[in-house]
Amino acid sequence: MTTLSGNHLIEQLQWRYAVKKFETLKISAQDWKVLEDALILSPSSYGLQPWKFIVVTNSGVKKQLRPVSWGQSQIEDCSQLVVFAARKTMDEAYVQKFINRIVDVRKIDPASIEFYKNMILGDVVKGERNKIAHEWATRQCYIAIGNLMTAAAVLGIDTCPLEGIEPPKYDEILGLKNSEYATVVACAVGYRSAEDKYASAPKVRFEKKDVIQEV
Ligand SMILES: Cc1cc2nc3c(=O)[nH]c(=O)nc-3n(C[C@H](O)[C@H](O)[C@H](O)COP(=O)(O)O)c2cc1C
Repeated sequence: MTTLSGNHLIEQLQWRYAVKKFETLKISAQDWKVLEDALILSPSSYGLQPWKFIVVTNSGVKKQLRPVSWGQSQIEDCSQLVVFAARKTMDEAYVQKFINRIVDVRKIDPASIEFYKNMILGDVVKGERNKIAHEWATRQCYIAIGNLMTAAAVLGIDTCPLEGIEPPKYDEILGLKNSEYATVVACAVGYRSAEDKYASAPKVRFEKKDVIQEV
């Protein structure tokens, strides 16, 4: 089943760039729903989804976030600012919540996935990975931000991934401090301004031979 031609995909990936200046135009509710669905469909290790996507549209909150984002204008001018927050820890209760969801969605007998559950627990709760639970959850968030940017590009919607932010300040402003989640990265979503000169700058990528190794 081909839904998008290879040429069109590459065209859109060439078209996208990290927008420096957004138009103050809002994304339609219909398009935003598609992007939220794409976010939710992001894959994660074991499918555990150790993340929260905080969608900021409130101009007062954006105003507070800008000074703790290296003053970057995209924070205020974008339509939606998505803040990716990763779980700080991983415990049995969380894994159980995920297992319950599988049972519910797939309408299966919990006993049939007992082995899978124990495998997950042995790795991310009782195993070595538990010591790096937040780092591990952070990696999953980076998959989601990539997914969001590609989905947006395919729809002709612009983005700018943002690591130039102060995560602890974000946690304070967004009320995450005493939660199970901590900010790791953000993504501004909206429409490029015609004045953004970066839009026409050629993409800088290493040559294929430098990054793709065939074995
Ligand atoms: C994780 C990540 C964080 C980034 N943080 C910022 C940022 O804070 N501000 C910014 O203007 N661009 C940021 N960028 C954009 C990169 O500089 C940009 O993606 C890169 O130069 C490649 O250019 P292109 O995305 O326009 O093709 C970030 C990119 C990534 C992937």
